[in-house]
Amino acid sequence: MKAHALFLALALSIGIACPSQAQSYNPSPENLASRQEFRDAKFGIFLHWGLYAMLATGEWTMTNKNLNYKEYAKLAGGFYPSKFDAARWVSAIKASGAKYICFTSRHHEGFSMFHTRYSDYNVVDATPFKRDILKELADECHKQGIRLHLYYSHLDWYREDYPWGRTGRGTGRPDATGDWPSYYRFMNNQLTELLTNYGPIGAIWFDGWWDQDQNPDFDWQLPEQYALIHRLQPACLVGNNHHQVPFEGEDIQIFERDLPGENKAGLSGQDISRLPLETCETMNGMWGYKITDQDYKSSDELIRYLVKAAGKDANLLLNIGPQPDGELPEVALKRLAEVGKWLNTYGETIYGTRGGCIPPHPWGVTTQKGDRLFVHILSLQDKALYLPFEGRKVKSAKTFVGGKPLKYRKDDGGITLFLEEVPRVVDMVIELQLD
Ligand code: GLC
Repeated sequence: MKAHALFLALALSIGIACPSQAQSYNPSPENLASRQEFRDAKFGIFLHWGLYAMLATGEWTMTNKNLNYKEYAKLAGGFYPSKFDAARWVSAIKASGAKYICFTSRHHEGFSMFHTRYSDYNVVDATPFKRDILKELADECHKQGIRLHLYYSHLDWYREDYPWGRTGRGTGRPDATGDWPSYYRFMNNQLTELLTNYGPIGAIWFDGWWDQDQNPDFDWQLPEQYALIHRLQPACLVGNNHHQVPFEGEDIQIFERDLPGENKAGLSGQDISRLPLETCETMNGMWGYKITDQDYKSSDELIRYLVKAAGKDANLLLNIGPQPDGELPEVALKRLAEVGKWLNTYGETIYGTRGGCIPPHPWGVTTQKGDRLFVHILSLQDKALYLPFEGRKVKSAKTFVGGKPLKYRKDDGGITLFLEEVPRVVDMVIELQLD
């Protein structure tokens, strides 16, 4: 650990905040560059993996079934994912066209999927598997050139020092008050490990802030924690799935199960900030492995969702819940391959783009790279499409695949595009050259 990082970690652990860092956040040049890279990436894969995979009913089972924390912890003694092979995971994910992987280093159950000095309840010390899964994954990500982000739960249903929030109240921990200074020190120590022992980390993805939303006086001491992260790795982005507009010190804005500006799942609807945006979504209906859930979205649905996210200038973080044996579910692997095939052809209209100058419409969305506007027609029962333009002139129109010139007519405030046939593909992409 570098001297200044060590000092900060020490200062944090004895409760000295670092006010100059905490008060007004000025992202470093490395951080700003990393934000651009993040916006360009557009597509990532989320991996929810922990002891809960063995129960095969999703990652909330511990609290949903009020499982006693000491009994639950015994799962660790049987955790032996014999088929885990980081190289195979990373290759399959890379082939999907995803540019980053976000892995659950420690979820709400409190089990660390990495070797930590600050708790024995971790994948190396508490399981017969004894392998640092995160280390293997990180090494493989660096080797294959894909960025690694780390999910980190703020709340914990296992630790006695975590003050009870609104979840995890039935897991048998003895003292509702907990010991906040001890828990806060623990988190910062772990974050220091995560940002010191695993090479460059693209982002820390926090979750669980909402657990204390019924304790209005609760202070998560986020500014100091964020400053620690930026101190250890200036390029590391901080995101928090708190379902609020971003707080000071955050670098990206996260949405859960909804596109920015929409609120179908009930967790969103917050204002859209100017930070890079990301929304996460499940491939089936659950984050952690759920044996009975075979209700996977089709590849067409997934592709359209990715396109719609890009049209809103947001990344899609698409989730897979690995099996207890260490493999990714077969259907998930199939979906990865299918999305990858589509991106092989259409990636140019997604990666490195920004939401286009025509806002989303029921027929689809637009993405843009400089003067090239990509019109993604997702749902249209017609051969003609009116596109509203303000202040921009269209120089030419062609199909993205094949480059066939298309006819269009200049109309009031826009153009009408004439397609050769009613679109029948998952996404008919038309490329317009703007003036
Ligand atoms: C929720 C859940 C959690 C999941 C996360 C992913 O906040 O608590 O289980 O990890 O969403 O977005």
